[in-house]
Amino acid sequence: MSLFLGVDIGTSGTKTIAIDPTGKVLAHAAASYPCSHPKPLWSEQDPEDWWRATKETIAAVLASGKFKPGDVKGIGLSGQMHGSVFLDKADKVVRPALLWNDQRTAAECAEIEQRAGGRKKLIGMVANPALTGFQAPKILWLRNNEPKNFAKTVRVLLPKDDIRRRLTGELATEVSDASGTLLLDVVKRDWSKKLLSKLELDQSLLPRVVESEEPTGTLLPAIAAELGLSPDVVVVGGAGDCAAGAVGNGVVKKGIVSTSLGTSGVVFCHADSPEVDPAGRLHTFCHAVRGKWHMMGVTLSAAGSFDWFRSALCGGDATSFDQLVAEAEATPAGAEGLFFTPYLSGERTPHADPLARGAFVGLTLAHARGHLVRSVLEGVTYSLRDGLDIMRELGVPVKQIRATGGGAKSPFWRQLQADVLGQPVSAMAADEGPAFGVALLAAVGCGEFKSIAEACAATVRTTSESKPDAKRKKFYDRGMGVHRGLYPALRESYAAIAKLTT
Ligand code: XUL
Repeated sequence: MSLFLGVDIGTSGTKTIAIDPTGKVLAHAAASYPCSHPKPLWSEQDPEDWWRATKETIAAVLASGKFKPGDVKGIGLSGQMHGSVFLDKADKVVRPALLWNDQRTAAECAEIEQRAGGRKKLIGMVANPALTGFQAPKILWLRNNEPKNFAKTVRVLLPKDDIRRRLTGELATEVSDASGTLLLDVVKRDWSKKLLSKLELDQSLLPRVVESEEPTGTLLPAIAAELGLSPDVVVVGGAGDCAAGAVGNGVVKKGIVSTSLGTSGVVFCHADSPEVDPAGRLHTFCHAVRGKWHMMGVTLSAAGSFDWFRSALCGGDATSFDQLVAEAEATPAGAEGLFFTPYLSGERTPHADPLARGAFVGLTLAHARGHLVRSVLEGVTYSLRDGLDIMRELGVPVKQIRATGGGAKSPFWRQLQADVLGQPVSAMAADEGPAFGVALLAAVGCGEFKSIAEACAATVRTTSESKPDAKRKKFYDRGMGVHRGLYPALRESYAAIAKLTT
């Protein structure tokens, strides 16, 4: 039998699964690691932690006893997008990796726009504006702020591609994750020589680019022996976690849109051609499907906001998420006039503003913890709707919404999505996230399926559907009006707060 592993190097931890050729998940394992915030707006991780977690979770999956490790034929890699692993000529990590939700690069974003000849020209080259989370501004930040470290750096890799290097010795990335560097010509699906030259960056800093299901190499013999796998195991390109999650949920044709509630919140749609939001609010990236693209809106703290609330105000593990959701459910829609803006690490869609902050607005003596929780869940969901409304405005067909990610496991939060987004929301039969998508890509790359579309048709199923309640939908349409007004009303205060704290 042929088996495939999917590894997702996430922000809170790494998850590995094993699937059989029918898409049945035979085993899964997870390992967590910390994220450090040495200064306001900074977000960093140690790539060693990702590597340790990758090996640990692969070992745990192989030890599950449900299959023979010798049957593993392929591995797909996924991970948090945009992060920067800076390597010296001995392949040593130069400094901790800067992550997707790191917000220190506002000056470098302005520099990129200026060097490109303006925002419009930049979007013409790489389909997207410069946003603080993307990789190119991080490389410029290193050059501008840590010149000694920049001088040592010979290679910059995305998180999952550093794991590929350690597994196979190969330096490669694939189109979906490469799109989030801001250095890829998203239309041509290759590095933009034009932008690299304007930024005075050498292309040798970057790995080669392949399509997502393409094999990039096999396991290094020593690593294969350490893991107990065959050195013939093929590692395919894989995908950034958003595109990987979309493959795992069958978002590989027009009309299907997914919402994902992980640390970040993502609204994702497939596109047959590279369509660009002229205002640059949505990202236009290559899809993990050959010759296809996608658009997405990303709110930076989604389930991350709920997680923050529980750790900061409820004693962390001492209070279960289920208990907090039950308290939220016991309060009325709209939390009796309480709103929450989920901009705990700044924001990307629709307000590309690293200085934006989280806020509770509308507190009264009548509010209890359940109201606060409800307003957090509602605020995050309004933020997803911000992204979806831009898609609707651009004429993207939204025939079905598939809810994924940790937050979608809650029936209450799925119903809330249906009510706020104003359309039915489907749950997935096996919501294994990006790890499942890249396990499917490995199966396609190893010839188990003819195409990604065929792999999805054979393995992905939706289950229950939450339908919007007419009364609550009407109420949340009005609430959306209030939500939309909060960021513009607070923008100047956020800027003033930033000045106070630096
Ligand atoms: C996508 C993004 C996040 C990370 C989180 O653009 O920044 O979703 O990939 O894992």
